[in-house]
Amino acid sequence: MLSNIISSQDFHTLYGGIVPELASRSHTEVISKVVDSALETAKSKISEIDAIAVTTSPGLVGSLLVGSNFAKGLAIKYNLPIIPVNHIEGHIFSGNLQKGDTEFPLISLVVSGGHTAIFLVRSYSDYELVGTTVDDAAGEAFDKIAKMLGLGYPGGPAVDRLAKQGNARAYNFPRSMLNQNNFNFSFSGLKTSVRYFLQKEFPGGAPEELFPDICASVQEAIAEVLSIKTLKSAKKFNCNTIVIGGGVSANSRLRQMLLEKSKKYGIRVVMPNMEYCIDNAAMIGFVASKKLSELGADTFLDLDFTVSPNAIRGRKVIP
Ligand SMILES: Nc1ncnc2c1ncn2[C@@H]1O[C@H](COP(=O)(O)OP(=O)(O)OP(=O)(O)O)[C@@H](O)[C@H]1O
Ligand SMILES: [Mg+2]
Repeated sequence: MLSNIISSQDFHTLYGGIVPELASRSHTEVISKVVDSALETAKSKISEIDAIAVTTSPGLVGSLLVGSNFAKGLAIKYNLPIIPVNHIEGHIFSGNLQKGDTEFPLISLVVSGGHTAIFLVRSYSDYELVGTTVDDAAGEAFDKIAKMLGLGYPGGPAVDRLAKQGNARAYNFPRSMLNQNNFNFSFSGLKTSVRYFLQKEFPGGAPEELFPDICASVQEAIAEVLSIKTLKSAKKFNCNTIVIGGGVSANSRLRQMLLEKSKKYGIRVVMPNMEYCIDNAAMIGFVASKKLSELGADTFLDLDFTVSPNAIRGRKVIP
């Protein structure tokens, strides 16, 4: 990897959430500079580029349109193939950015702010959704519970940090759907259970010295469901490799538990370096380069693709 430029839009915190129109306007303002600095950091010229990759889903349509139209413009001007990538595909392979090639089929756990899903992956272009959350994503559960404790946003990293000094068995929070015979998840019950627990036990607010125990117990419940269900799916579909990705894949307890449990069955776990857990361009470029060698440049000459806010459902062969 020669460069991985990230341009963040911190101003959304003023509004308590992302404002779609402001997000796409801001993309329009920075996109040329981001591409220029990617080339500069990589000490490359655009004439040396073989292909262009661009995220086309899922996400905010306005922002996706800015990226895909800019990429199409470059592809026309420089006569290059263009590879549309679903950004969840990027999360699936973010661990392979450092580890290189992988063996198929594999099981992928994508755990981010908006997704909690298990995919059976047969190639760099063939994904099957085998389980997903029926309500909140795991990242949302971390964020909402952290908010109840006044830990700020995003809450996942703060919970992880406090949990390191806490006792994970101090409180027994629910492990929803753990014993059901499917690979789906539910985290809204956990969130409600923590809310009732805090209201009942500490009507005036939980004392800060108990935060580590509360955080460790919440984190344990989330990590346990995620790792047990992921492992079960790997066994069911005869996969020797599990890969994880998305912001929550940075969680230290999830990483540790998944490694411990998988070791017993000889299953390899591939995890992204911390900087590649959250959204990044490098993972999109990686998937695109694999698709390019799997399917050939002729597959990617069509500019007639569009963007979509939708996640992957069922089995999908992309493109
Ligand atoms: N160490 C951690 N432990 C638990 N959760 C974490 C940790 N670090 C980050 N997170 C969580 O990761 C989430 C953000 O992840 P990410 O940036 O991948 O999501 P997103 O890109 O907004 O969503 P999506 O990819 O679904 O569109 C937040 O919910 C955050 O709390
Ligand atoms: Mg993401």
